[in-house]
Amino acid sequence: MNGQAGKVRVAVVFGGRSAEHAISCVSAGSVMAALDPERYEVVPVGIAKDGRWVLADPGQQLAITDGALPEVAGGTAVSLVGDPEGRGLAVLDPGQAVGRALTEVDVVFPVLHGAYGEDGTIQGLLEMTGLPYVGSGVFASAASMDKEFTKKLLAAAGLPQGDHVVLRDADGAISADPDVLDDAARDRLGLPVFVKPARAGSSIGITRVTDWSQFPAAVAEAAAVDEKVIVEAAVPGREIECGVLAARGTGLPEASLPAEIRLRDGVDWYDFAAKYLDDAAEFDIPADLTPEQTAAVQAAARRAYLALDCRGLARVDFFLGTGEDGEDLLVINEVNTMPGFTPISMFARMWAATGVDFAELVDRLVSGALAPR
Ligand SMILES: Nc1ncnc2c1ncn2[C@@H]1O[C@H](COP(=O)(O)OP(=O)(O)O)[C@@H](O)[C@H]1O
Ligand SMILES: [Mg+2]
Repeated sequence: MNGQAGKVRVAVVFGGRSAEHAISCVSAGSVMAALDPERYEVVPVGIAKDGRWVLADPGQQLAITDGALPEVAGGTAVSLVGDPEGRGLAVLDPGQAVGRALTEVDVVFPVLHGAYGEDGTIQGLLEMTGLPYVGSGVFASAASMDKEFTKKLLAAAGLPQGDHVVLRDADGAISADPDVLDDAARDRLGLPVFVKPARAGSSIGITRVTDWSQFPAAVAEAAAVDEKVIVEAAVPGREIECGVLAARGTGLPEASLPAEIRLRDGVDWYDFAAKYLDDAAEFDIPADLTPEQTAAVQAAARRAYLALDCRGLARVDFFLGTGEDGEDLLVINEVNTMPGFTPISMFARMWAATGVDFAELVDRLVSGALAPR
């Protein structure tokens, strides 16, 4: 172990270039506070919104205070050494091509959401360094970030999902005419449809289209976020989430008790404002489900985790509707490989309701990353 007095040295990486920068800071603050100081030495590494890496001040305020969102600002510039001999971080001195070695770390916890964090990019960098890290690897992260490939892999595993069409901006097709869906597809999908950037999060760039006249503007908005756009039939039903965590020792996925997001009357869908700003949703943790429904959600969550080759943790989001004969229709919406990670986030609260508290959650993830694979 490289830390003081035999402690495990954990680099917690947070902030980042995505729209979820502030949420990542809050998540990281919680993770760092939960790492047992008797066993772990924390090295806080912030990634500023412009992509600069800095050694953050351990005392930095990372909570939301008086409505002000935390942000990675200044600090000593550091860099992750890609050469596995480096095993860690180097300080970048101005004018020097290669910085002096700062510290060797044992394990990295990338508490990053969205692009450059949850999409396989930092995971690729960490693979190059040879450092173990918490969470899914390159492939699972990239596949789960991409709503098209998530659906393809879930379909291959026989897991249920909603009808959809993928639009690509090949040869500028979308930019030239965002009204790109043919009549057959319109008839098949019906209204409303959800128009989404294929790789985004926090509901950014998503429009719920209730009239085809709104469709071109919705496609243009999604295409401004990602060149690939996905058009989904609306799936009626309750919004249910389930946490998945690798078991100690075996690494096999275990599922938490599911939770339900109940939107208040008049709120049609879980958009950005409903997620972070308005008091638009209520959470039932655990969800009010029959034992059979709970078991079905948990089994599907574990299968989705395996289908996407996830590691460590995931949050699997569902719609639970009712079929023509009154039977349950369970549909997977998406898989998040680094869900919001504060003690009040759904993931942590679902595990708390299942008997795994926040410190145990963090400890399981870090020790799981260090376990030989
Ligand atoms: N096909 C769909 N049918 C019904 N509601 C949907 C559908 N897709 C998305 N939604 C609503 O939009 C929200 C955000 O969509 P989601 O695909 O989860 O995006 P993000 O990755 O940004 O969280 C969901 O939580 C849900 O309320
Ligand atoms: Mg979602």
